[in-house]
Amino acid sequence: MPPKSDLFDLSPLPGATFGGVMNFKGGMSGRAATASFEKNPQPLLDALYASGGFLLMPQMMDILDEPTLMVRLSQLFGREVENNLKTYTAENKTLFNIHEQVPEIILVTNAPPINSQPMTRPEPPLTADGKFPTRFPHRKGWHTDQSFRRPPPDFSLFIAVQPTPKGQGQTLFADGTGAYASLPVHLKKRIEGLEGLHALPGNGRSEKAVREGQPPKPLLPHQRSQKHPLVRVHPVTGKPALYMCESGQMDWVDGPIVGMTPGPDGDGAKLVYELMRHITQDEYVYVHDWTKGELVIYDNRNLLHAPSWYEADKYIRIMWRTTVMGNAGPEYAGEKPSWIPQTAAAE
Ligand SMILES: [Fe+2]
Repeated sequence: MPPKSDLFDLSPLPGATFGGVMNFKGGMSGRAATASFEKNPQPLLDALYASGGFLLMPQMMDILDEPTLMVRLSQLFGREVENNLKTYTAENKTLFNIHEQVPEIILVTNAPPINSQPMTRPEPPLTADGKFPTRFPHRKGWHTDQSFRRPPPDFSLFIAVQPTPKGQGQTLFADGTGAYASLPVHLKKRIEGLEGLHALPGNGRSEKAVREGQPPKPLLPHQRSQKHPLVRVHPVTGKPALYMCESGQMDWVDGPIVGMTPGPDGDGAKLVYELMRHITQDEYVYVHDWTKGELVIYDNRNLLHAPSWYEADKYIRIMWRTTVMGNAGPEYAGEKPSWIPQTAAAE
């Protein structure tokens, strides 16, 4: 049963087998709704978990004028909202994509000086039956945010500040919980206890870099690839979910699966690709075509997502993101952040 609230109506996400749409009652503003949630966040959290960790809030335009509102809302979902100035290291992030006034917000945009370019367009652009491609390997770029870290983050909040016209620049989401539940028993047995090796992009460990014969860069301790269970049991819902990325955010030198033949032609790669094809079947995928002022909250512990192509030479797309941490699960208990150099961590 979806949670009842005086504040909002919750309806199923159209075109998806997971997710919810939260509309505030009586034309309530995003600002007023956030203030009410701060007094009692439980209905919001209940709605999120009842919706498989995915909520669309169409009425959050207020954030565009008052970006701290996004941080306040983020704080309701976990112990820590990442302050990107504090976790910045020259090797893993650029300073100029941090919001100037609100360092918890990362800008994802092709606007200068960031100039972040979209994924390459799927080739061919449509499927054989004329549809928007969503399934791996036709659709690439599937990942869960910052899985190259231990502990990994819980949630991301993502808002469209300046979206592209409809039909491009969408974000695709895939349900790791539903996909795990439908695996055949023999495959569940085969992956039990396995760990994936997740890599910080840009260090010569992607599938493409390895196939091209690029030498992997030497890594400082805080840049090293990190292991995670291939099946993560969600610390709140208790449900198991596939937890993985593909070409760009797994380690194709020593992984992608710990203890299996490494490299892009090894047994680990075959398993990753088999699972990735499974998790990106139509019934587990939702495609979100953005409207200005829409906010999406997604749980990185059980959902994957992928960006889509857009005409970057024609349009400027601006998205803001926050990252929420603090409840990765018992297997990460007491760990120091892997991605912070020791000297900075001691500050
Ligand atoms: Fe992402």
